[in-house]
Amino acid sequence: ADDELLAQFEQTIAHNDRIEPRDWMPERYRRTLVRQVAQHAHSEIIGMQPEGSWITRAPSLRRKAILLAKVQDEAGHGLYLYSACETLGVSRAELTDLLLTGRQKYSSIFNYPTLTYADVGTIGWLVDGAAICNQVPLCRTSYGPYGRAMIRICKEESFHQRQGYELLMTMMRGTDEQRAMVQESVDRFWWPALMMFGPPDDQSPNTAQSMAWGIKRDTNDDLRQKMVDMTVPQAEALGVTLPDPALQWNEERGHYDFSQPDWDEFADVIGGNGPCNVQRIAHRRRAHDDGAWVREAATAFAEREEEHA
Ligand code: ACO
Repeated sequence: ADDELLAQFEQTIAHNDRIEPRDWMPERYRRTLVRQVAQHAHSEIIGMQPEGSWITRAPSLRRKAILLAKVQDEAGHGLYLYSACETLGVSRAELTDLLLTGRQKYSSIFNYPTLTYADVGTIGWLVDGAAICNQVPLCRTSYGPYGRAMIRICKEESFHQRQGYELLMTMMRGTDEQRAMVQESVDRFWWPALMMFGPPDDQSPNTAQSMAWGIKRDTNDDLRQKMVDMTVPQAEALGVTLPDPALQWNEERGHYDFSQPDWDEFADVIGGNGPCNVQRIAHRRRAHDDGAWVREAATAFAEREEEHA
């Protein structure tokens, strides 16, 4: 019977149909999805911090309203993704615990500080730009709830990317000081943004199996190339220089050549030693503790409702 179930699973994957929560799936497929979807959810939630810290310092009411809406969207993305992950048989409380105890990761990018207001624009342009490159193909991922969550998330991410680009465009039309602030921000975020796609394919332990299962649809290096190709003309239109002297159009390949980010720095950041790792988790833990009364109240209410039912 097990062989039959496996054959059925493999046929679904081969036909590019979707695996749904009640379908049989290999335990490793389930575990890989829990790992990726949880990491993705944690990234959305931790990702609220670097930009959230600018809400009270936004330069105008309009900028504040945009930023507030954006950060709230990220919270929503985290919630859809935690829900998608729960369909795989794990609870949100367990996932939160795995994050807070360092047993699950979140994206490396959110361990970098936001030093100037231009960083809000750069994060929208480059970080959300990278997120879109990575996530649009995930709308076709083989696991139904994950793919469906990605559709709405991608629509919101493209809005986020445009607001970032528009913010930077506005600053580039401003003073020399503002232009320098944009350039400095792009210099800091370019390499970490390229790291978001994960290690090079020949050093990525999970890519081959995740591609075979249709969880991932493209390799890390292919998506990184796509990001570079997409971003170069946008940088030109904006009037900023991307901090890579090797960046050059390669006629033969039909792509831009570019340098590799510093993979030792990446290893440090995902190993917990990036510039803000400790601060991010401490903040998340504090928020979790501060929210304890809400969870207790909700549980008490649910119990009372049940008693009266
Ligand atoms: N930050 C932190 N950890 C990373 C990163 C990164 N940028 N890239 C890779 N890793 C980790 C992997 O999770 C894996 O560790 P693990 O086995 O402990 O989980 C290890 O490095 C090796 O990497 P891969 O074998 O390449 O791992 P994988 O096949 O999972 O690919 C990737 C990584 C591309 C990030 C994939 O998981 C993915 O596409 N995830 C969904 C997108 C996502 O999480 N986006 C979040 C940031 S964007 C945003 O939210 C705005």
